[in-house]
Amino acid sequence: MEIEVVSAGSSKLISMVNVTTDSTIGEIKQQLYKLKKAPYPARQSLRSEAKGKSLADTETTKSLGLRAGSKLYFKDLGPQIGWRTVFLVEYAGPIFVYLWLYQRPWLFYGDVTVKKVEQVVNWAAITWTIHYAKRLFETVFIHRFSHGTMPLRNLFKNCSYYWLFAMYVAYHINHPLYTAPDLSLSYIGLTIFAVCELGNLSIHLALRNLRPAGTTVRKIPVATGNPLTALFNFVSCPNYTYEFGSWVGFTIMTKCLPAGIFALAGMYQMTMWALGKHRAYKKEFSNYPRSRTAILPFIL
Ligand SMILES: NC(=O)c1ccc[n+]([C@@H]2O[C@H](COP(=O)([O-])OP(=O)(O)OC[C@H]3O[C@@H](n4cnc5c(N)ncnc54)[C@H](OP(=O)(O)O)[C@@H]3O)[C@@H](O)[C@H]2O)c1
Repeated sequence: MEIEVVSAGSSKLISMVNVTTDSTIGEIKQQLYKLKKAPYPARQSLRSEAKGKSLADTETTKSLGLRAGSKLYFKDLGPQIGWRTVFLVEYAGPIFVYLWLYQRPWLFYGDVTVKKVEQVVNWAAITWTIHYAKRLFETVFIHRFSHGTMPLRNLFKNCSYYWLFAMYVAYHINHPLYTAPDLSLSYIGLTIFAVCELGNLSIHLALRNLRPAGTTVRKIPVATGNPLTALFNFVSCPNYTYEFGSWVGFTIMTKCLPAGIFALAGMYQMTMWALGKHRAYKKEFSNYPRSRTAILPFIL
């Protein structure tokens, strides 16, 4: 049978495509590419409605209820880049930027006469580096992403966010006139940071184990034998909760306002994502635990 593929923007016919009941969205994308009607598959979005969500490549014409003459809507997602590449570039940048400013370069601070470096300034450089090195490690060895690519423009957006914030925070903490808080406060912050980093790693490992290698399976995440995963009993995205906790710990440790602003900016972004993921879980799984909130236990 034949179905119509039309533009999601103008509803103009792009191509008629030959399908069987078992044809997948991925195969239809391949066909459009071979017919030279659309760019490479990763750049294509096919939807059931013009403004609807992108259909998964694994959906079939049968599962979507498509018949002869049915319509699919096509949107060009723009040039794509591998998720892994984006993550590697966006997370390596903050390490280089931070460690560069840690050396108090002339470009930022001029000729530095104060040579003394507070102990917490060293801790901050170490913890900052550990955080991003951990993210790089997780990107390569732990996460099992379901999407291979994302729009190229995200690379510029995400890198600006992480690199510029790294510069903003590092500039203040490494400033020759920076004043460190009381050491006991720094110890409290450092402890919060360390616990939250371990918690974040624990959640990422639990998420990895939900998805068999090479698949895009999604399951309801649950607490495992690791006590740090117990947060799954309260929120849908405990990795974001811990991420926020890490930056709160870092802010307490350094008593640096820009670090606090970075924590709040990240929290805002992660809350938006967590609310979306939480809604998606409730929609996808009828038995999803009702008592969970999105990111902050009992609150949000
Ligand atoms: N500071 C900040 O501003 C900031 C912002 C964002 C992220 N981060 C950090 O980066 C980390 C990763 O972020 P993310 O947004 O990629 O996290 P995420 O969406 O929670 O996903 C982490 C990994 O787990 C997989 N996954 C999620 N839910 C799953 C489920 N129910 N079943 C099976 N697999 C599942 C994801 O696969 P999919 O590919 O299918 O999603 C992905 O590979 C965060 O935890 C956080 O530490 C920081």
